Amino acid sequence: MANNPVKITETILRDAHQSLCATRMRIGQMIPQLEALDAIGFNALEAWGGATFDSCLRFLGEDPWERLDTLKQHLKKTPIQMLLRGQNLLGYNHYSDDVVRAFVRQASKHGVAVFRIFDALNDIRNLTTAIDEALKCPEKPHVQGCLVYTVSPYHTNETFVELAKKLQEMGCHSVCIKDMSGLLKPYVAEDLVKKLKAAVSVPIELHTHYTSGFGSMAYLKAVEAGVDIIDCALAPFSCDTSQPCTETMVETLVGTERDTGLDRQKLIPISKHFTKVKQELIKEFDLKGYFDVNPNVLDFQIPGGMLSNLTNQLKEMGMEDKYQDLLDEMPRVRADLGYPPLVTPSSQIVGTMATMNVMMGQRYKMVPKEVKDLARGKFGRTPKPIDRDFLINTLGIPENEIIDDCAKEDAKEMTVAQFREEMSKKGYANAPEEDVLSYALFPQVAEEFFKSKGRI
Ligand code: CO
Repeated sequence: MANNPVKITETILRDAHQSLCATRMRIGQMIPQLEALDAIGFNALEAWGGATFDSCLRFLGEDPWERLDTLKQHLKKTPIQMLLRGQNLLGYNHYSDDVVRAFVRQASKHGVAVFRIFDALNDIRNLTTAIDEALKCPEKPHVQGCLVYTVSPYHTNETFVELAKKLQEMGCHSVCIKDMSGLLKPYVAEDLVKKLKAAVSVPIELHTHYTSGFGSMAYLKAVEAGVDIIDCALAPFSCDTSQPCTETMVETLVGTERDTGLDRQKLIPISKHFTKVKQELIKEFDLKGYFDVNPNVLDFQIPGGMLSNLTNQLKEMGMEDKYQDLLDEMPRVRADLGYPPLVTPSSQIVGTMATMNVMMGQRYKMVPKEVKDLARGKFGRTPKPIDRDFLINTLGIPENEIIDDCAKEDAKEMTVAQFREEMSKKGYANAPEEDVLSYALFPQVAEEFFKSKGRI
């Protein structure tokens, strides 16, 4: 047994298929291997949140809350981890504190045992309510705060360390370096982990994507520097735009100080099953299923899952030849908008603005509402303050609409009771809180879903 084993969080039930197969894996495709996954000894199984909630309702005809219950029935030992976007929950708006608290409570009640919480802008104010509520849950879940990793003139390893200290002060049980676009280079990872280990006492977890090809090198340097947990995906759903491969990392560390102690042989039948599942998903949803390593992501920083969407959007508009122009425009828009890390929802917002600039052949001729909201501070503070002249004259935002305190804006959003009332008017009276929350996050999609299930 190693002195200091590295723990592994397995992502095959969430991020891995979100990154490679458009989040289309069904619960039925997971069930046959849940007991086997539970027996491996993973630190956690990331299985809920992120885009899975939306995908269940929109594409798969599955109730996300029921999926969580099913996962919980089969996963008796290993904690179920979810990814939560702070005040943004799993939707595309910011929600009231009342909705955020209710969502966290329900998720904990239904079996989420690790809350991984992040904010796209690393604005602590957007993490406060979700973290506070998760810490109060009677089931005593593990609460993890994230540093959303990005590269810009406004981000350094030192700024990330300061953020980690704040997360620890807020009561987080661990801190995750969330590198959604795979930008973290091996030696930078080593330096960042060393600095974090020196500055905070809670465990440090590293989450990356293979997009630019650094994945397992970054993990190895981070492991040498003392990282506590790494996020990996089983072979059939690993690498490309997903996480480094579980089996490879397990075997790499065998016999070292940091041996994971996991048995690679036990992973073989599980991976065999998911190889089949991947083929089914590729066929059913007409997916590509693989992505080339692309070091240029270092410049355009688009998260893996979003690249294919952008290509499709351009194709639909008959503008495939503009792909490179779009990739060139992304970093310019990102700089104009104050260097936000690109992750849902900022990635979509910057992506949409870049697409429109390229389509129109003139920059900022039309500015969508979400871009204005990001720019005027509705989602929190951007890493670099946006130039006022640009805000007012280029984006057309009136001075009195610039927001300094995003929490005050969130307070204006609807409460659970108000959403329930709205559902009543649509013919769904006395809906259970879980359904009200699904509706709060995705009103139209949830309404269609409830109709299809005969609940309305
Ligand atoms: Co990820």
